[in-house]
Amino acid sequence: MSDLSEVDKTKRLFMGLGSIVIGAGIGGALAYPIFQFAVGNALKTADDGDSKDWIDLGSASEFEEGKPTAKKITIEIRDGWVKSSSDETIWVVKKGNEFLTFTATCPHLGCKVNWVPERSEYFCPCHNSAFEVTGEKKPGAASARGLDTLEYRVSDGKLQVVFQKFKNLLPTKEVFS
Ligand code: FES
Repeated sequence: MSDLSEVDKTKRLFMGLGSIVIGAGIGGALAYPIFQFAVGNALKTADDGDSKDWIDLGSASEFEEGKPTAKKITIEIRDGWVKSSSDETIWVVKKGNEFLTFTATCPHLGCKVNWVPERSEYFCPCHNSAFEVTGEKKPGAASARGLDTLEYRVSDGKLQVVFQKFKNLLPTKEVFS
């Protein structure tokens, strides 16, 4: 049996090194998403307070005590690569140092409620659901629950909310995902 030539030995050495480099590359590529997931989740937990999409509704001092005020906002919707926008209305009622913030979407089948001052109620004309100024449904409403409240905060004197959509028809509020 003859010894390998110097050229063959060099080829084998390079092939061996090549396999190691390719193997390490594949291993790294597979491990990176796992690492990213683990680290990303750890960072998210530490950062939860700032990860919400707060939407400005204007100066907190502009709202009149007890009077429902409508605020229009535009929401950006992403569905995969497709971006679109949706105009929404938020009802705000100031109660001392607190606020009630509702989406104007009726929890029955999604029509918009309006404030009717002469009857002191929000009213949905689609199936005649009426709601108290505090959002509770009135007797006889087609909706199974009251108006859906939104999380709010006052930051630097501005009233801000986190807009969410909720499932229709249910007796309790459930975020639509
Ligand atoms: S959608 Fe409002 S009562 Fe039906």
